Amino acid sequence: MTTQSATPFWPNAEHWSLDIPLHTPHPRLDVLAETGVVLLSDIDPDVTPEQYESLEYMDWKSGGDTNFAPIASADGELDCRGFWDKGKTDKDALWTSNAALVPGIRDYVDGVGANFGRVRIIKLEPQDRETAIRSIHRDDNNRFNPENEGWVVRSWVELTDNPDSYMLLMDNDADGLPDRSTERRVPLHRGARFVVDTQRLWHVVVHNGTAPRYALITSFESGPALETWIDSQRIPVPA
Ligand SMILES: [Fe+2]
Repeated sequence: MTTQSATPFWPNAEHWSLDIPLHTPHPRLDVLAETGVVLLSDIDPDVTPEQYESLEYMDWKSGGDTNFAPIASADGELDCRGFWDKGKTDKDALWTSNAALVPGIRDYVDGVGANFGRVRIIKLEPQDRETAIRSIHRDDNNRFNPENEGWVVRSWVELTDNPDSYMLLMDNDADGLPDRSTERRVPLHRGARFVVDTQRLWHVVVHNGTAPRYALITSFESGPALETWIDSQRIPVPA
């Protein structure tokens, strides 16, 4: 007798992520060329739990049992749908009513100086690794993005302190499936920050906590502004 439940999930050629373009002419950032991820220095996020917990969260499942509070969206509405539903690339976002409740977050995103798309706070319920792997995926960040405009990538700021949780990242193998040999784990302590090419890397969060994990996720357009900002925020590389 075969029991499917005994077989751990792993994406195959039928996975929807394989339909998302991987190689395109869009200008990209050199700093992401090798691994698709860059770690930034930790910060003390300018937002209190009272502020981010009081936001309006939408029931929207992505990468597990999640809810999202839109801070900026395609048209300023509290809407988690892709910008493409409104005929728009994931750029030129407008602040929602939530933004006024988290002014420190709004100022942080503005301070980057790059064109940003969706800005959201994610609330993720705990999920162990086996559960998380079921949701591993690549993002469709560049739908409708003209090929001469910068590749859209994503940035994170961790708001809760979960040092035993991590973002699991994997690059693609020759068949476009996650390559286990490239696994990388980005720890999710409070204030941890990183930028990921989530259209290239397979990703999901393994959250080993007992309470929800909150993080700020922002889409940014690759270009000189984002490059300058990343250079100023990177963890210094030892000489
Ligand atoms: Fe994603």
